[in-house]
Amino acid sequence: MQIVGSVKEDLIKEKRISITPETVKKLGDLGFSVFLEKNYGKHIGISDVEFKNSGAKIQNSTNEVLKNSDIILTVNLLPDNHIINIKDKTILIGQFEVNSNKDLINKFIKKNIKIFSLNLLPRITRAQTMDALSSQANLAGYRAVIESIEQYNKAIPMMMTAAGTITPAKILIIGAGVAGLQAVATAKRLGGLVFATDVRLSAKEQVESLGGKFLSVDGAKDLETEEGYAKEAGEDFKKKQAGLLKNSIKKSDIVICTALIPGKKAPRIISEDMVNSMKPGSVIYDLAVSQGGNSAYSEADKIIDVNGVKVMGAKNILNNLAVTASSLYAKNLFNFINNLYDEKKKIININKEDEIIKKTLIEKAL
Ligand code: NAI
Repeated sequence: MQIVGSVKEDLIKEKRISITPETVKKLGDLGFSVFLEKNYGKHIGISDVEFKNSGAKIQNSTNEVLKNSDIILTVNLLPDNHIINIKDKTILIGQFEVNSNKDLINKFIKKNIKIFSLNLLPRITRAQTMDALSSQANLAGYRAVIESIEQYNKAIPMMMTAAGTITPAKILIIGAGVAGLQAVATAKRLGGLVFATDVRLSAKEQVESLGGKFLSVDGAKDLETEEGYAKEAGEDFKKKQAGLLKNSIKKSDIVICTALIPGKKAPRIISEDMVNSMKPGSVIYDLAVSQGGNSAYSEADKIIDVNGVKVMGAKNILNNLAVTASSLYAKNLFNFINNLYDEKKKIININKEDEIIKKTLIEKAL
């Protein structure tokens, strides 16, 4: 019987887990045995007993899991001192940032370990159930709104009370991809007046369908690639966008930044002047902070006070809803394994004719 295993992440940086009791059962139904390190989910309230009841075998040490597993599931790349304990030809699946981890990835490839990164999934319909970038970005967008509101000292919705009327908060979302659209939906549900902007014109209809107002850069060309991602904006666009946003940012109470360009540094959209123009008490949440940041002054895991404006952003916001994030991530991983599994032959089959498998496999040294 083939073994799927997972070990504890570095808990200071990562609270998510890759296998949940639900996916232990699903992997069992597919014919796999599941090995987990002791106390694997304890930090997020999932006990070894719960895992055992779902069919997992709890191991006393990290090495017991590593040396026995045919497939290892993880969020981040394992540290290089683990490589020596992993079997030849083991499959390692996670959400790896390829560009920033080249040296470490090469060490795994040298050991003949087959690495798959869900970050490389093609955004095709068949891959949606495995799309960890989407499942996690959606939650990040939701949580960024919640955390901003926590720092904002006023109410969000309009309220007409006997003591007087409360005006609704103006919430601006920059970048209306997966995270941005969830931020629009969340801010709207909480009663904010929601505005959003993006360089992809197709985002307009999506923002409007969620009840937000789309801010279009006048006369701008659509900057969407064939894969549905954003292209880097030129100087002319950036100037026009700055002109458009200058006014909106000044009037906004909360700004959520989500703009990213795959493989590049995040675009700088909010200047120091723009931050300085905001009312004291306003909040900027920069979800792009780890990729260089969309906003001036943002620093990972800090709340910077700029004349009363709070600029914030977490390195890993998903740690703040690690149970939900793990539940979706583990299902993404299960669906990925299910696609690798050849039901007729009852084996894992790395079929390179399959676009999903071909694009996510990192085969050659980088
Ligand atoms: P992302 O995380 O790379 O970027 C976030 C957003 O920032 C994008 O909407 C992008 O257009 C925007 N952006 C970039 N530069 C900007 C700038 N200077 N100013 C304003 N906005 C800027 O993208 P994400 O959220 O991962 O995916 C976006 C695209 O992928 C969309 O087209 C979406 O429909 C598509 N998608 C398709 C899926 C599928 O399975 N078919 C699944 C998930 C996403």
